[in-house]
Amino acid sequence: MEKKFHEMLYTRHSIRKYTDEPLSGDHVKELLEAALLAPSSKSTRPWEFVVVENKATLEKLAECKPFGAAPLTKCVLAIVICADPGKSDVWVEDCSVAATFIQLKAETLGLGSCWVQIRNRFDKDNNDAADIIRELLDIPGEQQVECIITLGHKDEVRKPVDPEKLMWEKVHINKF
Ligand SMILES: Cc1cc2nc3c(=O)[nH]c(=O)nc-3n(C[C@H](O)[C@H](O)[C@H](O)COP(=O)(O)O)c2cc1C
Repeated sequence: MEKKFHEMLYTRHSIRKYTDEPLSGDHVKELLEAALLAPSSKSTRPWEFVVVENKATLEKLAECKPFGAAPLTKCVLAIVICADPGKSDVWVEDCSVAATFIQLKAETLGLGSCWVQIRNRFDKDNNDAADIIRELLDIPGEQQVECIITLGHKDEVRKPVDPEKLMWEKVHINKF
């Protein structure tokens, strides 16, 4: 079991191209369970998850920033992760952990996923990407949007990471 998880860490990659095959209901449920099982500071669970499957809406979401949003035009489903900063001063971390849980769960299901950054991102006319998404999806004003995770069956093959390429120089023992 441990070996499998470690292998998965080496083979996981961001996937930005997906087939048209829809996700099964069981897979969607498990992906959302992974999100809801994510740990959060003081167990506040400040996050909210908006599941988007509508193709036209996904295309519109992709217009929220000029670079890095293309996976939204290719995926079959996306999960928008947002939170009320009034509920937690570390909502960014809480949302990020939940996003990571979704991505790792996707990998275990053999699905592809990609993180699309929303917080601190702007569209081509310098409008806040989060404002555009709130408007599109009827998300209440107090909610801040951290990211969107795109999901689908993989339509690209990526090589596992070469263990020789791990940046061990980033690791410092006892002092920097
Ligand atoms: C905080 C964060 C923001 C990211 N934003 C984007 C994004 O907006 N668009 C995108 O295509 N990929 C995005 N990614 C994916 C990274 O580009 C990717 O994880 C990185 O290049 C390493 O590749 P790998 O995931 O295949 O290991 C993001 C990843 C993280 C963790």
